[in-house]
Amino acid sequence: MVRQILRFPHPLLKTPTKRVDVIDREIRELVKDMFETMYHAEGVGLAANQIGESLRIMVIDTSPKKEAPPLKLVLINPEVIQTEGSIRYREGCLSFPGLTVEVERFSKVVVKALDLEGEEKEYELEGFPAIVFQHEMDHLDGITFIDRVNGLKKRLALDKYAKLQKQKA
Ligand code: NI
Repeated sequence: MVRQILRFPHPLLKTPTKRVDVIDREIRELVKDMFETMYHAEGVGLAANQIGESLRIMVIDTSPKKEAPPLKLVLINPEVIQTEGSIRYREGCLSFPGLTVEVERFSKVVVKALDLEGEEKEYELEGFPAIVFQHEMDHLDGITFIDRVNGLKKRLALDKYAKLQKQKA
C-alpha cells in the first residue's frame, strides 16, 4: 500500500526511531509499504519514520539512478562499522519536496544490519549508495539533510522550502 509521506517539519522526522525487536508479519508488511511508497514517489531511499512508523528500518533502491550500479536493500537496525573519505552531493528528500541541498558525506561506509529474515549482514557501500544510506540513517536518528549544512545555508534552504510549500498551497 502506498502510504502518505510525512513532510518537514513533522515531529516524527525530528524524533530518533526505535530498534526493531521482532521481524514479524507486521514488519514485513511495513517494508512492503515502504518500497511501494518510495517507488510511487520516485525516490531511491526511504526511512520508516517518513511514513509515520518510528522504527529503525530503511529501504534503498538505487536503480532509477542510471550512473550507479543498481542496489536494492532492506536494512533493519542498521549500524555504521567503518567510514572513509568524503564526497559532496546535491541531495533531495521526499519529506522536502522540491528542495535540494549540497551535503558532505563519507564516500564509503561499511554497515551491518538485519535483513528481512533477521540475519545480520554486512555491506560495503561506496559513492551514491553510501550517500543514500547516510541520508536515511540520519532520518532514523531524527536528523534531516538541512541539519548537515551550516547555519546560513540552513536558513536559506528553509526559506526556499517555505516558499516552495506556499506555491503548492
Ligand atoms: Ni530524506
